[in-house]
Amino acid sequence: MIPTESIRQAIVVVGSINIDLVARVPRRPDAGETLAADSFTQTPGGKGANQAVAAARLGAPTWLVGRVGDDAFADPLRDNLRRHGVQLDHVHPTPGCSSGLALIHVDRSGENAITIVAGANARLTPADVNAAADRIARAAIVVLQLEVPLATAARAAQLAREHGVPVLLDPAPAPGQPLPEPLRRVDFISPNQTEAATLTGERVESTEEAVQAARKLIQAGAARVVLKLGSRGVLLLEGPDAEPVHVPAFNVDPVDTTGAGDAFTAGLAVGLAEGLAPADAARLGCAAGALATTRHGAQNAMPSREEVDRLLQAR
Ligand code: RIB
Repeated sequence: MIPTESIRQAIVVVGSINIDLVARVPRRPDAGETLAADSFTQTPGGKGANQAVAAARLGAPTWLVGRVGDDAFADPLRDNLRRHGVQLDHVHPTPGCSSGLALIHVDRSGENAITIVAGANARLTPADVNAAADRIARAAIVVLQLEVPLATAARAAQLAREHGVPVLLDPAPAPGQPLPEPLRRVDFISPNQTEAATLTGERVESTEEAVQAARKLIQAGAARVVLKLGSRGVLLLEGPDAEPVHVPAFNVDPVDTTGAGDAFTAGLAVGLAEGLAPADAARLGCAAGALATTRHGAQNAMPSREEVDRLLQAR
């Protein structure tokens, strides 16, 4: 039972649930190449589910709105979410459908390449979001990503806005089409450089280009941009006339970057739900993201609140 007091800091994540099929490889294969893997693991993932687990491990009461299939993966995926404390009232099985699946290569430097097969995630509908309206209305923040249909994510953003609940959109993967209005006009958008480039149509490599892209996303409707710069940390822009703020990354030895962006997003959301200033919430996100890279896997690599607080204090 979650105490009523902490429900005010509740996070609702609307998003994907995947089984990750992970091959660890010496390097990522070239086109047409067959490469022998060092090892293989099957482990729970999906950007929505990863963010929900990370938020729950950071201490936030967390609800996930999502779908699994009716295959052999469905129960283990739900069991893992439950084990980490995620509330599953709005996670449903989908008859005649496989669970979402991700094929992942992780190279020896910890970098990854991911192909997703949407499965049941493609069947998450605006009606599923409407069914969670009561939970969304009482949330401290709603967290979205784009491995579910755009119309579904847009409905969640719209519903949150109607209830005055802030929305954090992690626009991953970035669609090859303009975002619908409710997803452009979010309180926080947190793309990585590739996603920012897709969304703005501009190159986003240097810090200067990142600032320009962030300004463009604000012109397009976002209130604030938190642009993820990988091992360089994040760039925060809090409005059209604001000065960009750089939040540096934490120095760790990465073994697997899968899910690090999700850990960051969850840390940012938890910090905001607790009332931290955006730059402090981004620092919490950076600490969570860094720790997630030091272990293999996605959900099972998410750090505890104690680990994150320890890293924050050590700086
Ligand atoms: O962000 C990492 C996640 O992306 C993986 O867990 C995989 O399932 C894909 O959704």
